[in-house]
Amino acid sequence: MSERLEDIAAAMVADGKGLLAADESSGTIKKRFDVIGVESTADSRRDYREMMFRAKVAMTRYISGVILYDETIRQNAADGTPLVDIIKATGAIPGIKVDAGAKPLAGYPGDTITEGLDGLRERLANYYKLGARFAKWRAVIDIDVAKGVPSATSIGSNAHALARYAALCQEAGIVPIVEPEVLMDGAHDIGTCYEISKATLTKLYTELYAARVVLEGTILKPNMVLAGKKSGKPSSPEEVAEKTIKLFRETVPAAIGGIAFLSGGQSDEEATANLNAINAIGPHPWKLTFSYGRALQAAPQKAWSGKAANVAAAQAAFAHRAHMNHLAALGKWQPELEQAA
Ligand code: 13P
Repeated sequence: MSERLEDIAAAMVADGKGLLAADESSGTIKKRFDVIGVESTADSRRDYREMMFRAKVAMTRYISGVILYDETIRQNAADGTPLVDIIKATGAIPGIKVDAGAKPLAGYPGDTITEGLDGLRERLANYYKLGARFAKWRAVIDIDVAKGVPSATSIGSNAHALARYAALCQEAGIVPIVEPEVLMDGAHDIGTCYEISKATLTKLYTELYAARVVLEGTILKPNMVLAGKKSGKPSSPEEVAEKTIKLFRETVPAAIGGIAFLSGGQSDEEATANLNAINAIGPHPWKLTFSYGRALQAAPQKAWSGKAANVAAAQAAFAHRAHMNHLAALGKWQPELEQAA
């Protein structure tokens, strides 16, 4: 594979392929395992992720890359093969989460700032040696308008950190996924999500230019524009698609390597239906695909439930979700295809 940043970025959003976000921190994966009654240990986390990476049809046909957590990029499969090698053998690219999480922003209750810049140059050099060719940094922007959240300071600080991270990645030969996630947890309407996302993306691209980041060698991992979960007014796929594309046309340069959405708490099918609606109203200046965590893993996680005997069923569940999202990335998904499973 070519090592040019823009080629790696292009491979990450190759037609009908998307990213598997399997970079849950040990704290987050424990929460997921609690739900299925599995104890979270280094071995159970390994077994679970190995199950997905060895799902050959799903990986080779639908997955362009996998975002790993620090533990996983260093871990071996049960038979001693490095997990990174199993991923590479499917043709997918290993990637790595490098941020250290969102922490409360001093002076701004309700806002967070993502940490992890100190020592990042050295960590990136090490991750490159371990096989990572792209990285992820997630900024978290919550919405609570009555409380003044997010503040301009939070948006500005997070955009600046994303730009410093992205510049360091490119220096290391690693494609940065820039993820400014505007959360869907609030009670806000879809128009508010649009406004806050617009302020965030505008600031982000100003900072990326100022940091001399080469946009062709970046991938944007955005939220879709939708009403908050607590609004009680779910947005239709058509509305999500129309507002999301309007937003991107106003704020996202055509030069970037591509767009890979987060799922952010949407149900599996919602995340697929919305991605499909977005691509169905194309053509667009960018490739738009998935970089889903929960929306790809909820079904296989449940099917697996920590039992070796369930591995084949879990892999089938993963393959189905990946297949549906592959179709959505091409704008060719239909609800009836879900029943076929
Ligand atoms: P979700 O798709 O579950 O939001 O996770 C994607 C991700 O990587 C968030 O940083």
